[in-house]
Amino acid sequence: MKPDVLVNGKQMPHVMERLEERYSLHKLHEADDRAEFLRNVGSRIRGIATGGSGASASLIDALPNLEIISSFGVGTDAIDVEHARKRGVRVANTPDVLNDDVANFAVMLLLATMRNFAAYDRYVREGRWAREGAPPLTRGIAGRQVGIVGLGRIGRVIAEKLRVFHCEIAYFARHERKDAPYRYYSDLVELARDSAALVVIVPGGAETKNLIDASVIDALGPEGILVNVARGSVVDEPALVKALEEGRLGGAGLDVFADEPNVPEALFRMDNVVLQPHQGSATVETRRAMGDRMLENLAAHFEGRKLPSALF
Ligand code: NAP
Ligand code: 8YV
Repeated sequence: MKPDVLVNGKQMPHVMERLEERYSLHKLHEADDRAEFLRNVGSRIRGIATGGSGASASLIDALPNLEIISSFGVGTDAIDVEHARKRGVRVANTPDVLNDDVANFAVMLLLATMRNFAAYDRYVREGRWAREGAPPLTRGIAGRQVGIVGLGRIGRVIAEKLRVFHCEIAYFARHERKDAPYRYYSDLVELARDSAALVVIVPGGAETKNLIDASVIDALGPEGILVNVARGSVVDEPALVKALEEGRLGGAGLDVFADEPNVPEALFRMDNVVLQPHQGSATVETRRAMGDRMLENLAAHFEGRKLPSALF
């Protein structure tokens, strides 16, 4: 008998194929009436395969025989992890396999924002180079301090990569990492004040909500650059938009937003921002590795093996 698994949110085709082979699948995201769907199949479900759609407390409670939630992605902020823990449901994610691509993306977003890459591409396409001449100069990053907010698995790789660009690296987190050769700041405003740019790569969720608030943005200042590849919830988005509108922040490179896929329209009119549709891990190689890990976590659970990456 194949174990019954609930799929919450669309998965990549190769992941769906392998899920179909091994499990009896129930696609919640395709149900017209989710409540009725859960009433019908809820008691059979032993696993959830999910991603950005996560698993809320009410979904977990609708599945009395749930054993595991396996998520495509490292961030687990869309899953009610504490509720799962209390219910004795395991939670697994896909850390590390995406570090390089997300870190490359963060560095690219930082450089693209600092060098007005997107706006100057538009400048050429609109024929303005020929009509108006060279656009204004931008600022370089070599020799300047970049503050990493969250020196975890991905943050450390971002730091290593930025050293190649001859930046000074400093970081903020709740704990100092004695093994990290970078200056630690226990005060985020101070880090922002001393840095040319901040790269944000902490987990989302209640604990980091609006961590980047108006005081941090003002400390970065009119020449400072904010790069967010973490979660939209980590930045006070209205405060960010206001600071950009008023010229109190130099620019922003944003891969994540508070209400994806909706993006504040005011940002569309700004040349000093680079906007991306949550693309940090979105390469063929990394997404395949993430899918494989998500499947492997599920398979290991049902075969009684140690999970490659479980929170508990
Ligand atoms: P990680 O290894 O758990 O690192 C998280 C870092 O954040 C640690 O340095 C941690 O240090 C710090 N941190 C945690 N809570 C904090 C708080 N309340 N205040 C300050 N610092 C805090 O996580 P990771 O694997 O690097 O991933 C980080 C996040 O990146 C994910 O959770 C996800 O949201 C995001 N992400 C985005 C994309 C994308 O496509 N844009 C892709 C992958 C991941 P302390 O414990 O010392 O505070
Ligand atoms: C994914 C991410 O795009 O891993 C994460 O936390 O944000 C990204 O890699 C996302 O999880 C897909 O659902």
